Amino acid sequence: MNITFRQLQIFEAVAQHLSYTRASEALHLTQPAVSMQIKQLEHSVGLPLFEQLGKKVFLTEAGNEFSRYANTITTQLDELEQVVNEMKGLQRGRLTIAVASTANYFAPRLLAAFCQQHAEVTVSLDVTNREQLLKSLLENRTDLVIMGQPPAEMDLVAVRFMDNPLVVIAPPDHPLVAHEHIPLECLPEETFLVREQGSGTRSAVERFFAANQLALSTAMEMSSNEAIKQGVEAGLGLGIVSMHTLAMELALKRLVVLDVVNFPIMRYWFIVHRSGKRLSLVAQAFQDFVREESKRILKIPAA
Ligand code: PGA
Repeated sequence: MNITFRQLQIFEAVAQHLSYTRASEALHLTQPAVSMQIKQLEHSVGLPLFEQLGKKVFLTEAGNEFSRYANTITTQLDELEQVVNEMKGLQRGRLTIAVASTANYFAPRLLAAFCQQHAEVTVSLDVTNREQLLKSLLENRTDLVIMGQPPAEMDLVAVRFMDNPLVVIAPPDHPLVAHEHIPLECLPEETFLVREQGSGTRSAVERFFAANQLALSTAMEMSSNEAIKQGVEAGLGLGIVSMHTLAMELALKRLVVLDVVNFPIMRYWFIVHRSGKRLSLVAQAFQDFVREESKRILKIPAA
């Protein structure tokens, strides 16, 4: 089989996005260039690796097998690059980090402070929800992840570094704003805007309602904290979001945190990697930095 490393990278991008257009954008190539490389690769392999049904692209059985091996080869090459960098005694390198959508409200500040101390480091930051973060860890696509409590059944190393309180938010003219110690029993009378399935915030909210035997009435499902805050401001319903997302809205008095009994729902932030993963010097340095410096650099907004 006569294949090039470039073809492997292009194959991985198409397999990850299941779209020639998105793969070509990610690789900064034209779509015909990507299609051509995949055609040549399929010719070398002697089997189709992708099939297109309607507008959707799927991996064939051979494509799935190919994907497994391609992933191992590129991971090994990344490791080789890290080992060589370490042998050169370099503190510079690439830090690949993925964070929960909600952690995006503080992660850039941590990265900025870290990069001030390590000017040579280049950072690739992926912002996505909890489900996708777990997938990235499983597929070894990231050095480190910042997320809520990781599942016990996965073989991960997780270091807890900060609180993540979830609170009930309302627009300033909502009748409950005037009340203190609002009993939990009032919540089923309200409708809520909730995050998408796969979000850590969403599952924490669902667990909380179930544990307190309360019915959760959802007005709408939204795939970002920003959409929820805008929706709550517009009067579409109440929301339950992390305090980390609220600095601006509270300062501008666009939203109010309701004083509900048993709130906040307390979650925590963890910096996580797969156990057994060979962390680069840069990734190790960032992990230590988060553990030691996050309290100094980050402040949780006050209600
Ligand atoms: P989310 O994750 O942004 O996917 O909701 C945050 C969390 O796990 O608390």
